[in-house]
Amino acid sequence: MTALPNLINQPIFKDSAVTCAAEPALKRIAQSFGKARDSYIGAARLQQKVALDALALLAKTSQGHLVDLGCGPGWLHPKLSDYCQQFSAVDLSPDMLAKAAELGLAKAYIQADAATLPLQSASVDKLFSSLMLQWCKDPASVLGQIKRVLKAKGQFVITTLVDGSLAELRSAFATLDNNNHVNNFMPAEQLIQLCQAISGIDWQFKQQSYPLYYPDVLSLARELKSLGANQVQGKKRLGLTGKQYWQQLSQAYEQHRTSEGLKASYQVLFIQGQLNDEDK
Ligand SMILES: C[S@@+](CC[C@H](N)C(=O)[O-])C[C@H]1O[C@@H](n2cnc3c(N)ncnc32)[C@H](O)[C@@H]1O
Repeated sequence: MTALPNLINQPIFKDSAVTCAAEPALKRIAQSFGKARDSYIGAARLQQKVALDALALLAKTSQGHLVDLGCGPGWLHPKLSDYCQQFSAVDLSPDMLAKAAELGLAKAYIQADAATLPLQSASVDKLFSSLMLQWCKDPASVLGQIKRVLKAKGQFVITTLVDGSLAELRSAFATLDNNNHVNNFMPAEQLIQLCQAISGIDWQFKQQSYPLYYPDVLSLARELKSLGANQVQGKKRLGLTGKQYWQQLSQAYEQHRTSEGLKASYQVLFIQGQLNDEDK
């Protein structure tokens, strides 16, 4: 693990005792993304498209404090000055944060689990979070934390993968064995219901499909590994071994070949919200 440069305690923090990643599942997620700190940006074609589409939903301003929750290596940070006066970067992985901190653009780099944010209540004007929520086992807690840290009238944009993502890979694996090799993504309707159960927020939702194409299934697996996204929740690692197994998987995936290559679908839910005054 790399030591964090520039980790500073600003008054917005509740306390400095960040105990995240103590839970084994969180630790595995943090380690997997940490290993990808240097390969992530080169592999992040989906992540870049999605985050830029999401950022376009935020109002431009040079005012206020923004939080980038699950910031990864911070490739988006040079653009954030159009949306706030200053921003803080939060991530579970200290290595991802250290990579982001190389740019030195954030007011603070905070290692934390999104479900237990060490930020003061009503201290944030805007929150941005792209493709992090699908890694959180209790999205309702994360949404509750987002509501807690935002000021009245505060805005947020979140993107997350939902059911249907990597459906082709899942069905190719299903022809080989009964193990779960691909993360289960929450159905969009279920996530929307979870959101709507939280009062005091004006919600907006939009689902968009992002198909990506690969020359072969190995390229898809390599991309997931380069992103650090080759973890399956509750398991140690995407269990893939043996040449024969790979050949069978490749064969099963062939039915999803198009003129552009092997198709992998990603279903992204955009969740936008603004706090109304009633709870603050
Ligand atoms: C797919 S990357 C997205 C990074 C960046 N937002 C982007 O769009 O490129 C997901 C990031 O979320 C972080 N992450 C995963 N679970 C988290 C949690 N519970 N709390 C905070 N960050 C988390 C990971 O460490 C990783 O850096």
